[in-house]
Amino acid sequence: MKPILNKKYIKNAVKKANKILHNGGLVIFPTETVYGIGANATNPTAVQRIYKIKNRPYNNPLICHFQNLQKIKDDFEMNEVAKKLADNFWPGPLTLILKKKKSSTICTEVSNNNELVGCRIPNNSIAKEILKSVPFPIAAPSANISTKLSTTNIKHLDNKLSNKVFFIDGGESHLGLESTVLNVSSKQPEILRYGSVTVEQLKEIIPDIYFIKKNNSKFLSPGQQTKHYSPNIPLRINVNKVLEGEVLLNFGKNNLKSKIFELNLSISGNLKEAGKNLYDYLHQLDKYEYKGIAVAPIPNNDLGKTINDRLIRAISHDSS
Ligand code: TXA
Ligand code: MG
Repeated sequence: MKPILNKKYIKNAVKKANKILHNGGLVIFPTETVYGIGANATNPTAVQRIYKIKNRPYNNPLICHFQNLQKIKDDFEMNEVAKKLADNFWPGPLTLILKKKKSSTICTEVSNNNELVGCRIPNNSIAKEILKSVPFPIAAPSANISTKLSTTNIKHLDNKLSNKVFFIDGGESHLGLESTVLNVSSKQPEILRYGSVTVEQLKEIIPDIYFIKKNNSKFLSPGQQTKHYSPNIPLRINVNKVLEGEVLLNFGKNNLKSKIFELNLSISGNLKEAGKNLYDYLHQLDKYEYKGIAVAPIPNNDLGKTINDRLIRAISHDSS
């Protein structure tokens, strides 16, 4: 299905989304990273619906999406580091974990009763229009069933979601990889999830940033290293040979070959292009008629770190 990105479609869709959100319902909408499934972040019943339909554990907190910085400042404490990062990366694919003010009306279900909440301002015109049209922030995880591949194109949507939830087709996600999640509430900023903002970009602003390992985390479930972003068929990464029956997810130019089918994330070896194609190509290769997906080595720098992080978690058997 071709995206219907005309003004009238968007105007009507935003109007409908507004009505649904006001009534405590869910809406699937595009962002620049991946599609989100959103609810009124101040309405506990609406937020609970997200966990239920995604089959998501209640201890895995949701990201709140805001229209602008002022709205975040109204609800959260922001230290100097947070302000600096906000100035540099918002609107955009960075999620900051911030401390809620006592006056905040964001419900506790969003963050598993924790006063620390993930916040971001998305950079997508449809997402912005929806946020402008409602007086509350929108809690929205990625629009997929928990542990499965994210959605970067409406055609990836699981029937379990598309049959029940109103969705807006905003075409292909511009970036294709989720936001980078950063805890700035402690003394030293910690990366909780690699994402579309690279470590290299963050280091230009905050030189002493580091990546937090799962077991060191005081956070209940930032999703690190547990099974996530997974296709239905087996996946092998860093391959130097494609096995009988496997399809190939290639990167750059090399001698790898599949006898069945292959897609190349970026023939020219461009990590941005590879990031944008990752979920779409995994969706295309994830067919039960194939024995598995063999993935070529991806350089572990810039967005390659994020791509490798997703691939490693896609093969993890730990679904805790
Ligand atoms: O790009 C994105 O971030 C997309 C779009 C829709 O904005 N959203 C997204 O949400 O990827 P989700 O729920 O699939 O992933 C959010 C990640 C999870 O790993 C979650 O554990 C972490 O952010 N997170 C959210 N709030 C948190 C909090 N208060 N403390 C620690 N981690 C948090
Ligand atoms: Mg997700």
